[in-house]
Amino acid sequence: METIINEKSYACWLQYERIEDREWLENNKSRFQSIVVIGNSPILNSALNELNLGIRSMFDNEPTLYKKRVEEASIIIGIYDEIHNQFKELDTNRMEELNEESYIIKTIKNESLLLVGKSDKAVLYAVHHLLRLLQLREPIEHLDIVESPKNQLRMLNQWDNMDGSIERGYSGKSIFYENNRITKNLGRIKDYARFLSSVGINAISINNVNVWKLETKLITNEFLPDVANIADIFRSYGIKIFLSINFASPIEIGQLQTADPLDPDVIKWWKNKAEEIYNFIPDFGGFVVKADSEHRPGPFTYNRNHADGANLLANALKPYGGLVIWRCFVYNCLQDWRDRSTDRAKAAYDHFKPLDGEFLDNVILQVKNGPMDFQVREPVSPLFGALEKTNQMLEFQITQEYTGQQKDLCFLVPLWKEVLEYDTYAKGKGSKVKSIVDGSLFGFKYSGICAVSNIGDDENWTGHTLAQANLYGYGRLIWNPDLSSEAITEEWIRMTFGEDPFIIEQIKSMLLESWSIYENYTAPLGIGWMVNPGHHYGPNIDGYEYSVWGTYHFADRDGIGVDRSIDTGTGYANQYFSPNKEIYNSLDTCPDELLLFFHHVPYGHKLKTGVTVIQHIYDTHFKGVEQVDKLIKKWSTLKGKIDEARYSNVQERLILQLDNAKAWRDQINTYFYRKSGIADEKKRKIY
Ligand code: GCU
Repeated sequence: METIINEKSYACWLQYERIEDREWLENNKSRFQSIVVIGNSPILNSALNELNLGIRSMFDNEPTLYKKRVEEASIIIGIYDEIHNQFKELDTNRMEELNEESYIIKTIKNESLLLVGKSDKAVLYAVHHLLRLLQLREPIEHLDIVESPKNQLRMLNQWDNMDGSIERGYSGKSIFYENNRITKNLGRIKDYARFLSSVGINAISINNVNVWKLETKLITNEFLPDVANIADIFRSYGIKIFLSINFASPIEIGQLQTADPLDPDVIKWWKNKAEEIYNFIPDFGGFVVKADSEHRPGPFTYNRNHADGANLLANALKPYGGLVIWRCFVYNCLQDWRDRSTDRAKAAYDHFKPLDGEFLDNVILQVKNGPMDFQVREPVSPLFGALEKTNQMLEFQITQEYTGQQKDLCFLVPLWKEVLEYDTYAKGKGSKVKSIVDGSLFGFKYSGICAVSNIGDDENWTGHTLAQANLYGYGRLIWNPDLSSEAITEEWIRMTFGEDPFIIEQIKSMLLESWSIYENYTAPLGIGWMVNPGHHYGPNIDGYEYSVWGTYHFADRDGIGVDRSIDTGTGYANQYFSPNKEIYNSLDTCPDELLLFFHHVPYGHKLKTGVTVIQHIYDTHFKGVEQVDKLIKKWSTLKGKIDEARYSNVQERLILQLDNAKAWRDQINTYFYRKSGIADEKKRKIY
């Protein structure tokens, strides 16, 4: 593991900078003199340690810790059940209605601060909330805050392999594994848990969804003791751990001849396996499963369906309260596109819609935000709303596989926000994705949001310092999807870089424009995929590895785009509820930014902006490069205003981004100029 040399880079948004404002300090210092904790648990200890650390560092003053002297303490923290009798200020009716992760922060009559959670985990969240207020220098004289997370499962998926590599990782090596073992260096994992709990993450799967030979053994007693050590760390920050499993485990590590989900020996094998795991980790979260996709084994081999597969595991985990998180990213990556009835975009819906209602109640289906695969622009997956009787969770990708790989700046909160606000019309107007995945629309027993993490052992965790904002923003947004992108962005900047209004404004505009800039110089109008094979960075119009039967853009000399309309195309548009179905199906109403996802049009087709498709391609690609140039200029105004390590990290990456943007501009413009034979109206030079 790398030695930590730059504290600011490492500390992400938990900088706890010393408060310099004298007046603020004088007014508030007395509120942070002493702490009493009522109760005792590893999570309460984490809460206390964090509070202590934050106060010490921001006030330059070590608070006194009392064991019992509640009357004298300036901050009192504890669990509601153990505390409420002592404080008549607590509104019992209000508290009874809240869930296990809810908390209150309240200034009580002698000016003490009461931080009370329904559970110890909630107390930890309350502490982080208070520390956030302090970091943001918010007024704290009269606090009366009640908070509950909107989503039940708030999860991260690590795509880490035991050799230390990370699938789609752009920030160094794994912090979990090295040399085919689980790391002994647990300090970094502990800090990761701190960061995650500060934004309310409560679950994590710690190995890649593609479970290779060695990782299959994570559920054997060779590795379970070490997995249990990791679980201990996360547990003390209120985070449950999950493992990705190999569906063929009974064959690969169980000496069985089959992994058929209906085979009695297989059923028994998984039951015993669950018992063994729970002996090591009593609160183990459960399994994440990628099956029958991109060459991974699954129930199709045995002519069984995905409900058979998921229920096999769900039955085994049920006695212990474990969950099966079964991924809907199931498609045949080698399918023949020339047959217009097959369409990768249709696969998840086609596989899972017919199975609605057949899954046990401890199965959750995990659905990627779009029907394809984390492209810079995709429609929202039509599976949201289509499953009424099956627990569902949404999967985002924080790691920037198709969005610049943490070399290019691409702040994803606005994209995620758009997905969560999308109206599916599943139960009429107002059936937003956010109300499906928070469980409220269909009354799911389990639901939530997960995302592929973007961290590694780089000093600053995320490679690009500004990519820390994606991790922070993800946590804050899924805690409360009603927060605005602007509010989250500003919070992150102030916590990470401090209070200088100039710095805040510059970085805020960079972040908030970055998604659209990235889209401008890469894939236009929802077409996606024109990336180099394998690693997926940089332009390669026909290069994507699964383009075996033709391209993903269907461009020829006359036109471009994929016809997914109902009458003449693949019929994908039909998977949506009305009126979305009709909106996408018609060329007149399909939004410009998704036009080529749904329709094949001539290059001269006029967009709603009045510009032709080909001219739009040229214009946005020239513009994207200019915008990256401006990002560089904007960042350069911060030289000397922020620390050198973070300044130069971002500057170096912006320069790489400019090269990348130029490569995209040149390849895309040349390709489509050659294909269409139509010149740029503005007569710019096309290379
Ligand atoms: C993408 C990605 C793979 C990943 C897969 C998945 O296809 O390129 O690396 O395994 O998604 O989500 O399973």
